Amino acid sequence: MKLNIESKIVLNNGVEIPVLGLGTLHAHGESVQNAIIWALETGYRHIDTAKAYRNEREVGIGVKRSGLPRDEVFITTKLWNDDHGYDNTLAAIDQSLKNLGVDFVDLYLVHWPMSGRRVETWKAMETILAAGKARAIGVSNFTIQHIEELLAETEVIPAVNQIEFTPYLYQKELQEYCEGKGIKIEAWSPLTSTVKLKDPKLVTIAAKYGRSPAQILIRWSLQQEAIVIPKSVHKERIIENAQVFDFTITREDMDQLNGFHEDLRTSGWDPYSDKFK
Ligand SMILES: NC(=O)c1ccc[n+]([C@@H]2O[C@H](COP(=O)([O-])OP(=O)(O)OC[C@H]3O[C@@H](n4cnc5c(N)ncnc54)[C@H](OP(=O)(O)O)[C@@H]3O)[C@@H](O)[C@H]2O)c1
Repeated sequence: MKLNIESKIVLNNGVEIPVLGLGTLHAHGESVQNAIIWALETGYRHIDTAKAYRNEREVGIGVKRSGLPRDEVFITTKLWNDDHGYDNTLAAIDQSLKNLGVDFVDLYLVHWPMSGRRVETWKAMETILAAGKARAIGVSNFTIQHIEELLAETEVIPAVNQIEFTPYLYQKELQEYCEGKGIKIEAWSPLTSTVKLKDPKLVTIAAKYGRSPAQILIRWSLQQEAIVIPKSVHKERIIENAQVFDFTITREDMDQLNGFHEDLRTSGWDPYSDKFK
């Protein structure tokens, strides 16, 4: 199917998520509000935030200032690591809803697979889903082992696993595993947090298509059937990052991009480390 800026992916509970979202890490104040307004004017309908970004309040204001009805904007936020545990998780969603100034989020994610409390935390996520405070629940930075644990001990299959996913961190095994379980992949830091935007291999492919390296990386995510959430606070880049629906990367060039894999993690922790055992 041909994708466009309005394209959505159906999650495992029937909720639809726009394939393109705006990331908001490190974006604050007027800057994040404006970014959201520009993104929504451009046609984005999906905003990704987290309690840890300390910008939920401004994200909520940005969405309201856009004038779009609440149900036309897909909002994701995330449970921070200090808030794990059953009761803490229930309190954390209420705080996030209050910060955002909304009655529900579209997607609530467990931000990182904290040791020892994952099952109890996920049971609270199920309660949040049942209460209608989130239309869908998912995880972030979970490995196959972390997901297996949830599947064995809880009821609701996560709708999404939001992971760092780029040609330079092509997590094919995890992608295939999630696909097999009906869990959609969301690609964070899809622009490699800028680290690889000048990589000559990438620049060469971009030149061939007359596109920017950022556009090639976003298009790669989409052709991997991932949901993708590039972040920018600049209007021209927000527009550029959405101009990815009028070209297709050939199979041959996708294979070449897949070959860029070098296990590159640009920010955040390694979920395979002891911290997350
Ligand atoms: N679940 C998790 O653990 C997790 C972890 C990290 C991120 N995330 C989410 O994923 C989103 C995206 O990841 P990210 O923010 O880490 O990195 P990213 O989207 O890969 O890169 C963002 C950086 O690229 C710059 N940029 C944006 N568009 C550009 C373009 N067209 N050309 C050149 N530079 C461009 C941005 O600068 P300007 O803003 O100055 O334009 C910013 O410095 C986050 O914002 C957050 O919502 C989730």
